[in-house]
Amino acid sequence: MWGIIATWRMAKEGIDKSVPILEKGGTAADAVEEAIKYVEDFPFYKSVGYGGLPNEEMEVELDAAFMDGASLSIGAVAAIKDFANPISIARSLSKYTVNNMLVGAGAEKYARKQGFERKNMLTDRAKIHYRNRVKETQEMDISPYSGHDTVGMVSVDSSGHLVAGTSTSGLFMKKAGRVGDSPIIGSGLYADSSIGAASATGLGEDLMKGVVSYEVVRLMGTGMSPQEACEKVTFDLDKKLIERRGIAGDISIVAINTDGDWGAAANIDTFSFSVATATQKNTVYTTKRVGNKMVHEEASQEWLEDYLTERMKPLEEK
Ligand code: GLY
Repeated sequence: MWGIIATWRMAKEGIDKSVPILEKGGTAADAVEEAIKYVEDFPFYKSVGYGGLPNEEMEVELDAAFMDGASLSIGAVAAIKDFANPISIARSLSKYTVNNMLVGAGAEKYARKQGFERKNMLTDRAKIHYRNRVKETQEMDISPYSGHDTVGMVSVDSSGHLVAGTSTSGLFMKKAGRVGDSPIIGSGLYADSSIGAASATGLGEDLMKGVVSYEVVRLMGTGMSPQEACEKVTFDLDKKLIERRGIAGDISIVAINTDGDWGAAANIDTFSFSVATATQKNTVYTTKRVGNKMVHEEASQEWLEDYLTERMKPLEEK
């Protein structure tokens, strides 16, 4: 059995690239890195990699992490600028015993020395988004902190090896140096090959309050299915945040276990995810909470195309 599941419809084409790796008995590590690299390279996804939205100083600062569930090895970069594939840098850091998480200038120095591809990650399109958002927030007094989505991915390969990875440009208009949950092991991702793996997307500041990915894996370890664990962690944290703070940010989680059973949950109605297993072709689902359960619905071809058309439509300066 093998399987791979990731946050958002944007992971679909990346997973298409990874399915042959897993089908041929390749590793979950290669599958996750390949799929996330595809998302990072695609210029129209505006919150991951190339074309990612900039911080308030109009600089693209990227976060990524990688965790190997067999050895529990971890690697992460945060607030890194001008490198094409932060996920590959994070994976390479997971090979060391120490110095596994590097930030800013230190991460860039490491990546340069290791020969990772340098790239100006700020596209003309992202500059237009930035200028439009500056105008909108001035004119309409709305928050600039919206409209982001991280790619979080987990996979089990045919050897039963589990891996998790994340990559994001984080919140649009974030402060320079702001780091969200995505590179934080336990919050943005967690993998343990004896149980399963989970990854999250949403408002990093709130996801970190629940250490959600670790918590999902821990609950799976007590016997919960990935679906039950994702629902419990998402709904409990949503409730706790509302009780304690009056408001909960976006929380969405995907998970998989050693059998290739998967699950997903969100406290928003717009969440989608992409999943493929040895017995299921690569499928995109939208999902909604109904009572205390999530109801997943396979996305239609029309929905899939509209998603891409919307993201790729010409953008005009306001
Ligand atoms: N979940 C991505 C972030 O908050 O940066």
